Amino acid sequence: MSQEVKISAKGVNFFYGDFHALKDITLEIYKSRVTALIGPSGCGKSTFLRCLNRMNDLIQKGRLEGQICLDNQNIYAPDVDVVMLRRKVGMVFQKPNPFPKTIFENVAYGLRVNGVKDRDFIGERVEESLKRAALWNEVRDRLFGSALDLSGGQQQRLCIARALAVEPAVLLMDEPSRGIDIGAKGDVFRIMRSLAAQGIGILFVTSDLDEVLALSDRVAVMSQGRLTALFDRAEASEATIVAASSIGHGPAAASQRKELTA
Ligand SMILES: Nc1ncnc2c1ncn2[C@@H]1O[C@H](COP(=O)(O)OP(=O)(O)OP(=O)(O)O)[C@@H](O)[C@H]1O
Ligand SMILES: [Mg+2]
Repeated sequence: MSQEVKISAKGVNFFYGDFHALKDITLEIYKSRVTALIGPSGCGKSTFLRCLNRMNDLIQKGRLEGQICLDNQNIYAPDVDVVMLRRKVGMVFQKPNPFPKTIFENVAYGLRVNGVKDRDFIGERVEESLKRAALWNEVRDRLFGSALDLSGGQQQRLCIARALAVEPAVLLMDEPSRGIDIGAKGDVFRIMRSLAAQGIGILFVTSDLDEVLALSDRVAVMSQGRLTALFDRAEASEATIVAASSIGHGPAAASQRKELTA
């Protein structure tokens, strides 16, 4: 299993004004591996994800301390091109957020923003990205129809295809299966494993223990802005992970376990 570090966060603190939201977080994201990030609501999971591709730059009174590197380059260095950074570190959100454009234009968007003009190249990349996101067969005959007419699960796969079109090294996924139905979840999980196998490093937030156990190679646990535990799935038992995430274990706790952060 690859141990090639893509993103390295060291001693990261983040403040919303006076509020200290992230406290001294050190975590690495590896190529080809899926890291799950779990913890109670409000503990800072989304804040941490947003630090990794500088989405928190947009927050007034936001302040970051510490260092975050992508391929050993400090992503907060003054000369960093943030558009290029977000191309390499893609983001998929809980609620599918396709643009009110055609399916084709949603996937082509990142290429156009990055100045790509070659129509053949764009067409090929759109097809390839839709195939990687397991959506091609369902939309190949309606590429120029509105993305908003797709089902929730299809929209989420479209958002994954949109992120993939610019060939990210890392994908950040903030509860990517929460807003879609059970059948569509399986699709998203298969895509995540297949993208990791293709070399992408994935950090995903979830509140579902079954997802953690089925999908992740590593599990990071946060509580009140701190990273409180980090496990390798090959070494940690389910009971260990459950205990660290401070929820019950055994049959009586089975329903409770479903929602780690409820
Ligand atoms: N824009 C903001 N301004 C001020 N405080 C914020 C802002 N965004 C988040 N916070 C606060 O920072 C803390 C961490 O929030 P964050 O959204 O990162 O938590 P989370 O772990 O993703 O929670 P959830 O599981 O509910 O999505 C919370 O106390 C939240 O209220
Ligand atoms: Mg969140």
